[in-house]
Amino acid sequence: MTTVETDRLVLRPWREDDGVELQRLFSDPAVRGGRSFPPERIARFAESSVRQWRVNGFGPWAAIEKSTGDWIGRIGLDQLDDWPEVDKIEIGFELHKAWWGRGLATEGALTALDFGFEQHGLERIISVTAAAHTAARRVMEKAGLTYRGTRLWTNPDVPVVWYAIDRIAWKARKIPAP
Ligand SMILES: CC(C)(COP(=O)(O)OP(=O)(O)OC[C@H]1O[C@@H](n2cnc3c(N)ncnc32)[C@H](O)[C@@H]1OP(=O)(O)O)[C@@H](O)C(=O)NCCC(=O)NCCS
Repeated sequence: MTTVETDRLVLRPWREDDGVELQRLFSDPAVRGGRSFPPERIARFAESSVRQWRVNGFGPWAAIEKSTGDWIGRIGLDQLDDWPEVDKIEIGFELHKAWWGRGLATEGALTALDFGFEQHGLERIISVTAAAHTAARRVMEKAGLTYRGTRLWTNPDVPVVWYAIDRIAWKARKIPAP
């Protein structure tokens, strides 16, 4: 199990008791952003997060803001079992609204990419969001992912876009300029 630190965050592997925090997070309509997440579905996200750490050795992190010790959200690698394209490991990010707009999702996303490529040998990491979700798309772009396509997925009324970055592109980004 791997806990990592960024400048402003402690990112620690998901635990069973984080399920309570996840319910609280998704009780905010701003965080749900028009999506419908009944409590049983949120509980399944939480269970999946614990299981991924056990099975894959990686998974979503609980994000703790260092200066306050606050539990601020869920960030990190997440396996999308029902995603219909080949590569199913995404970077995901959901933060309490009070913490938006400070670059924290991007800080966590970059750390998740490093973790996936350097520690777990992943070849491609994706990210999926509603086409209209400009902030999430911006986080993906800032983390170096590029647009790969638009399609319908779980909700037939909401097109989603998917972005990806391959290991080779990640390595190239990490080489410092001469
Ligand atoms: C999406 C989310 C994780 C972003 O977190 P964050 O910490 O605020 O993200 P960052 O600060 O790293 O970057 C956000 C970027 O989006 C931009 N942005 C935010 N809202 C925007 C909007 N409505 N239109 C255009 N750009 C917007 C910001 O300006 C910033 O880009 P910049 O650095 O170039 O200025 C956060 O809004 C959230 O938790 N939302 C609810 C859960 C969710 O929808 N998660 C994604 C599911 S796919």
